[in-house]
Amino acid sequence: MTELLDTRAVGTDLPRRDGPAKVAGAATYANDTHVDHPVYCHPVLAAVPRGRVTSVDTGGLRGLDGVLTVLTPEYGERLASTEDAELAVLQDGRVAFRGQVVAAVVADTPELARQAADLVRVDYERQPHDVTLSADRPDLYAPDKVNPAYPTDTGAGDVDAAMRDAPVTLDQTYTTPMLHNNPLEPHATTALWEPEGPGHLTLWDSTQGVHPVRETISTVFGLRAQQVRVVCPFVGGGFGAKGTAHAHVVLAAMAARAVPGRPVKLALTRQQMYSLTGYRTPTIQRMRLAADPDGRLRAIAIDVVEQTSRIKEFAEQTGLPTRVMYAAPNRRTTHRLAALDVPVPSWMRAPGECPGMFGPEVAMDELAAALGIDPVELRVRNEPEVAPESGLPFSSRNVVGCLREGAERFGWAGRDPRPGVRAEDGWLVGTGVAASVYPTFRQSRSTATVRFAGGRYVVEIGAADLGTGTWTTLAQIAADALGAPVEGVEVRIGDTEQPFASVAGGSSGMATWGSAVVEAARAFRDKFGADPSDGDEADGSVGENPDAKRYASYAFGAQFAEVRVHADTGEVRVPRLLGVFAAGRIINPRTARSQLIGGMTMGLSMALHEQSVLDPRTGHVVNHDLAEYHVACCADATGVQAHWLDEHDPHLNPMGSKGIGEIGIVGTAAAVANAAYHATGVRVRDLPVTADKLLVSAG
Ligand code: MOS
Repeated sequence: MTELLDTRAVGTDLPRRDGPAKVAGAATYANDTHVDHPVYCHPVLAAVPRGRVTSVDTGGLRGLDGVLTVLTPEYGERLASTEDAELAVLQDGRVAFRGQVVAAVVADTPELARQAADLVRVDYERQPHDVTLSADRPDLYAPDKVNPAYPTDTGAGDVDAAMRDAPVTLDQTYTTPMLHNNPLEPHATTALWEPEGPGHLTLWDSTQGVHPVRETISTVFGLRAQQVRVVCPFVGGGFGAKGTAHAHVVLAAMAARAVPGRPVKLALTRQQMYSLTGYRTPTIQRMRLAADPDGRLRAIAIDVVEQTSRIKEFAEQTGLPTRVMYAAPNRRTTHRLAALDVPVPSWMRAPGECPGMFGPEVAMDELAAALGIDPVELRVRNEPEVAPESGLPFSSRNVVGCLREGAERFGWAGRDPRPGVRAEDGWLVGTGVAASVYPTFRQSRSTATVRFAGGRYVVEIGAADLGTGTWTTLAQIAADALGAPVEGVEVRIGDTEQPFASVAGGSSGMATWGSAVVEAARAFRDKFGADPSDGDEADGSVGENPDAKRYASYAFGAQFAEVRVHADTGEVRVPRLLGVFAAGRIINPRTARSQLIGGMTMGLSMALHEQSVLDPRTGHVVNHDLAEYHVACCADATGVQAHWLDEHDPHLNPMGSKGIGEIGIVGTAAAVANAAYHATGVRVRDLPVTADKLLVSAG
């Protein structure tokens, strides 16, 4: 049990403290950083998917005034560590995927750098490549673990036997496509080496964690952590794409070293992000369900096939939701990977849980239809009493509460279960439901300091605000832990000069940093009481949560969608999307709602639009910009509503909060696909749910 905070500021909808600066254009993002006499770096990307660079010809740059240098594999700096192959920029001429960095130009202006990069002529020795994922590849392998450290395969009982014996079974395959994060702010790094000492590097980097970037970059360059400072007060979205340092950060630092005394700015173009900043692997999910006539599951199984790059493994944990959602005596989850000549996949909002809820939650809808049981009811009937695989009790589990409250708010009662029977003005209308789940993490390393200065408290922690609200919510937590008014608390984040903070990832940020802030505030109070003097200071760190081993902790939710499909054109619209979540105590309803609605909208986008198209002949993502990679816009998301249950969980952290950055996207696509089925009678098992699939299958 954790001693819970008495709340006053926590739970109020304090407006974002960073709002005015952002609205006024005064918030400095990485590429806005003011530095004296900057120069600009533009990378040259591999035009072949596999091979070797044989020559880099810069003859075409003659006569271009203002090009300072061209970095090539031959002349590039040798890095101290090349263990992470994604970050081993320009270390040799090997090309492992199309769009890998093979050279870079540094020039006086960004326009000139880009023009010059186009004029650099790179010749290659091509090798045969293979970028095609399929479930019957002979070279599929089982990784040692799946992200971040879960077992690859799990199981109990005998799924095959249950599938043979059960009166009702389902055996279907679902797929989710390659998907790319598209934060509004493209990745950018400004790098400056100071001449003093043995080398001191400052990076203004758009990142989800200044301290993790410092650790990564100091290792790559063979520096002590203290020789690297990373600064990032504002981030224009990350979603996981900025959760780890990618190659461009190394390149920016390398380029700055090549032009002594000059700071280098590197801003990736939107198109370059499609090969350099990670993506969600495509998944192939074979689902099997076996059930009694009353809907009770006898077996649940998911066998996942997905891809990774040949040079670095990322194994998405797609089978995870199936391990915790429903009770069933016979169960199995497996992950198999194909290592291909493709860019390195990585985190994208709710890696694992998000794609991994599509197959299971559509399968549950199919099972409900086959059994003639309401899909809400089917889920309720399969509620486990304890975590189905670990046997641990849940620290709190309110998925049924979310389903019931969502059904009530959405107007689910009385729904005609027959598909394709409701039409209004030429539109087929349907409704669908799916559950959501996301694990509740708290990292074991983060420190905060509290100081009293100039009549107010100053709280420092090197945390990140991706647009999520950290500037505001940490002040609320600190105020309550200090027993002070929130106006009297200033928060400082986003700089490695501040104490260590873990990455804003896995929806763990607030739980982790907030815990450290509470520790620091309690230490401050113990030392100085409620009447501190100027300069008083205390720090506090988060530690292991002993309850993490005794309880299974997850946020849950239920999402309801209304889908309209035009009977003639197949156009799909989602006029209503309603989510109810059980995510512990909500620190700030305003910023929380924004995150939940954002996650749901991203899920709607995944359901209807998003799909990266990888050309098998070239290994190139052909729709690599926002003109052709469609993301939901305001007109698509007119009726997105997020609600939450009042949930108290004493086993997590002093705030009693669960993460909310990712749960909103989990299950959304299944709810939409299920509603599209209900509208049309066409079952789409391969995302996205586009007009062609509804029409072709119908015909
Ligand atoms: Mo999030 S994908 O855990 O950064």
